[in-house]
Amino acid sequence: MLDEMEKLVSLCKRRGFIFPSSEIYGGINGFWDYGPLGVELKRNLKEAWWRDHVQQRDDMVGLDCSIIMNPRVWEASGHVGGFSDPMVDCRATKERYRADQIFVFAYVLPAVNHKGEPTEAWLAGLGSTPEEAAVVPEKKAAKLAKRFGEPTGPPSVIPYLQLGPGDREKVIGPATDDRGTLTEPRSFNLMFKTFVGALETESSVAYLRPETAQGIFANFKNVLDTGRVKLPFGIAQIGKSFRNEINPRNFTFRSREFEQMEIEYFCRPEEAREWYAYWRTARFQWYVDLGLRSDRLRLRDHGPEELAFYSTATADIEYAFPFGTSELEGIAHRGDYDLKQHQKFSGKDLSYFDEERKERFVPHVVEPSAGADRATLAFLCEAYTEDQVGGEARTVLKFHRRIAPVKAAVLPLVKRDGMPEMAEAIYRELKRRQNVFYDEKGAIGRRYRRQDEAGTPFSITIDGQSLTDGTVTVRDRDSCRQWRVPAAGISRALDDLLEGEVGSGQ
Ligand code: GLY
Repeated sequence: MLDEMEKLVSLCKRRGFIFPSSEIYGGINGFWDYGPLGVELKRNLKEAWWRDHVQQRDDMVGLDCSIIMNPRVWEASGHVGGFSDPMVDCRATKERYRADQIFVFAYVLPAVNHKGEPTEAWLAGLGSTPEEAAVVPEKKAAKLAKRFGEPTGPPSVIPYLQLGPGDREKVIGPATDDRGTLTEPRSFNLMFKTFVGALETESSVAYLRPETAQGIFANFKNVLDTGRVKLPFGIAQIGKSFRNEINPRNFTFRSREFEQMEIEYFCRPEEAREWYAYWRTARFQWYVDLGLRSDRLRLRDHGPEELAFYSTATADIEYAFPFGTSELEGIAHRGDYDLKQHQKFSGKDLSYFDEERKERFVPHVVEPSAGADRATLAFLCEAYTEDQVGGEARTVLKFHRRIAPVKAAVLPLVKRDGMPEMAEAIYRELKRRQNVFYDEKGAIGRRYRRQDEAGTPFSITIDGQSLTDGTVTVRDRDSCRQWRVPAAGISRALDDLLEGEVGSGQ
């Protein structure tokens, strides 16, 4: 039995949602490509975000900033000094791990060593949680038990970062059977470095941006001077960011190149708490409205120990993926930290003058920061359904109509008697307004199944009756219910169906 994630990854490959990047060369770890269906899904998601947060609001403007910025930006933001993960190398296998993802399972085995003591086995496993990390150590422990006898009890579980140097010597790495092959943890900066211009010198070093947020702060003054904006207002940006993750994993969830949808919402300091509460709720509701309706979606407030020193409140919107519960979006109350840092490093005044109150101050900011790839993956997981139709098993992606890659399929029942001609005319008409698909190959049942797997909400079938009375059948993806509508008004009928909430056809 394939597990849920394996099935989804396989469907994504087979139906052209997501491919490994440069696959014909063996791929490259941490990079992914969106195929013909995937690109539509992700675009629809980003367009929904942009429409709902920029175009439909009076208090938001957008930006599209360069990926490579003056490296001083990343000194001011703290990324040059502090954007790092602790890293551990395995001397035997040359593999590299994030130290905070290594957990050591210390077993005591009944066999005695040459000093007459019980033998210990310190087995390292990888994962975000001890439960996830337990898989490899448990397998290794079972093998050891055959040789040395069952462990005397359950293992003690110790995060690798809490081990002393003497203890690290005892650890057997996740991919070896030898002790002491793992190095001390070292700090590894996650920014991708490059050189600007022809010379590869220290002074030409630049970075691929690790977040889109700093482009917004760096343009705060430009927007104030040109945008005719008044507090409170937000600046939004969608774009690629890059992080040289030590251990990319979980399909597209932790990638080295990814896309963010970020808002910096500026306000008066005394109103920041209220705006934080507003965005925390509004952003959660946005996912629900687009179809993340199960209890897999969660909102988690950070405890005081998790907060960055400048933040007074942060919440994560999380999704329970098949591989574990992980963050889709963070909403952070960042105070005036970022603007003040950029003031300090650039020497430019980034304050705001309130004309009505005749006051000058540095605004506070609330940052809802979402991952477009993570959201796409969550919508794929949520949509993935296996059910039965007329006693036959099918796989269906139950996307919300707004994000479904293809909105309708146009299908002549058979390839003769004028049905393809009528279907083609309907297809041409619909295609002017919606992303629709024409398919005349194979049995009608199989064609419906293919559309179910692509997540297409409606199929429009042209049959014998269509030629005589000018009506066509509409089939609803989720209920498989069918009903007839006049072909003459089909474009309007499809628009209405796509705008409807749930259920359809009556
Ligand atoms: N700007 C917040 C983040 O990239 O995680």
